[in-house]
Amino acid sequence: MKPKPKQMDYRKLTRRKPLSAYDEDINKSQLRRTLGKWELTAIGIGAVIGGGIFVLTGVAANVYAGPALALSFILAGIGCMFAAFCYAEFASILPVSGSAYAYSYGTIGELFAWFIGWNLILEYMMGATTVAVSWSKYFVKFLQLTGLNNIPYWLINDPFTAKEYALKAGLPVPGFSINLPAGLIVWLVTYILYKGIKESAKTNNLIVCIKVAAVLFVIALGAFYIHPANWHPFIPAHIVDNAGKGHYGIAGVITAAGIVFFAFIGFDAVSTQSQEAVNPSKDIPFAIMASLIICTTLYILVSLVLTGMVRYTNIDKGAPVAAAFADAGLHWASLIITIAAVVGLISVMLVMLLSQTRIFLNMANDGLLPKKMFAVIHPIYKTPWKSTLLVGGVASLIAAVTPIEKATKMTSIGTLFAFAMICLAVLLLRRREPNLKRPFKVKFLSLIAPAGIAFNLFLMLSLDSATWMRFLIWSVLGTAVYFFYSVKHSKLNSESIN
Ligand code: ALA
Repeated sequence: MKPKPKQMDYRKLTRRKPLSAYDEDINKSQLRRTLGKWELTAIGIGAVIGGGIFVLTGVAANVYAGPALALSFILAGIGCMFAAFCYAEFASILPVSGSAYAYSYGTIGELFAWFIGWNLILEYMMGATTVAVSWSKYFVKFLQLTGLNNIPYWLINDPFTAKEYALKAGLPVPGFSINLPAGLIVWLVTYILYKGIKESAKTNNLIVCIKVAAVLFVIALGAFYIHPANWHPFIPAHIVDNAGKGHYGIAGVITAAGIVFFAFIGFDAVSTQSQEAVNPSKDIPFAIMASLIICTTLYILVSLVLTGMVRYTNIDKGAPVAAAFADAGLHWASLIITIAAVVGLISVMLVMLLSQTRIFLNMANDGLLPKKMFAVIHPIYKTPWKSTLLVGGVASLIAAVTPIEKATKMTSIGTLFAFAMICLAVLLLRRREPNLKRPFKVKFLSLIAPAGIAFNLFLMLSLDSATWMRFLIWSVLGTAVYFFYSVKHSKLNSESIN
């Protein structure tokens, strides 16, 4: 008689990793514990301040919010704060490096956790890719400021952008085009990460100092060049253009909040460093909240300075901050800001790629991804070196050929989804395990968590249908990998399902 094909046991999809297993992971971890609370905060700031404030503020103020850009930052910041509280509570309970993935595996179930992990790839790997493309723009600007104006456009643009550029300029469409600086910078960052966390943390601290100094410089110097008249009207009246697109008014402030949301992405990266933290249950929540509060404050001040220096309709959409100073006749300041952006964006990539490999490491240790690729630790550098090279290679390739808007939106949709899910997961865990030790406990969670879910889903809905379509394809792909590989190799297969 033919043997019956094996039936899928659907209880596997909702099986949870026992919380005791996390202790085992923590004890077994080969990663060095070297990060203190300020180093962790620096990792957060390093991941947060980047293309969002240096690039996206231009479009957000000029096209949507006007001087009320600061309100958009407040709005997006409050939304992220809900998610940050939930991240902080989880990180204090489970100080492991898998971030939202690990938290939901212990609380909601395997398929759900897999799906979150899959979307964190969009946040971290695609996020790093987006920043690499922004970096390339600033780098090219820097070269131009130093007199190098003749770089062939097909060497500094992805094929789509190069084609668009050629058609607009009446040039023949190039047969080959690549964003070389974007592709190469990812390799530089990958090399730093390959060499190890301590070196990475040191490099990161230095870059964060330069970046924060640059932002403070913008605020302090720019304050002298504010023309209060530029702030009137603070919320310009809502208008609809010939193409039927809305600008300004309250609706514009909300749209701009959706855009500048990207500027906040990264604070949660702190939670992926738990296994390298000296005192994770206290320091991770501290670092998450501290980096978010510091960055929100800086963003609000930069927005006020920017919209005070330049009339919102004249704000540059490419490099708004540097351009504002150039417009004020401060070319030396513009050069300093460009250099700081070039250096500063590196730290964003550093943290994002670092976080990506740590999440993969967690998933591989749970059996959901191949261990031989994602969980092999370098004998000397103590880094997941194979995974680091793979992630770097893929991110570099995508950065070299993808337009920035597509990469930004994919990053946002994946991140928003992960944020919404983490709020749900923390709420469920409170119900299921009310007596669990929580070194950091969110007050009014029954209000904060639903507000976080609603806010993040609301922002997801504001993204266009093409992004949604890509997101659905990505999700189907992830589900397929889960059913064909992960469910069969899960470490929990050796445990009985109750
Ligand atoms: N928040 C990061 C940035 O703005 C991703 O570049």
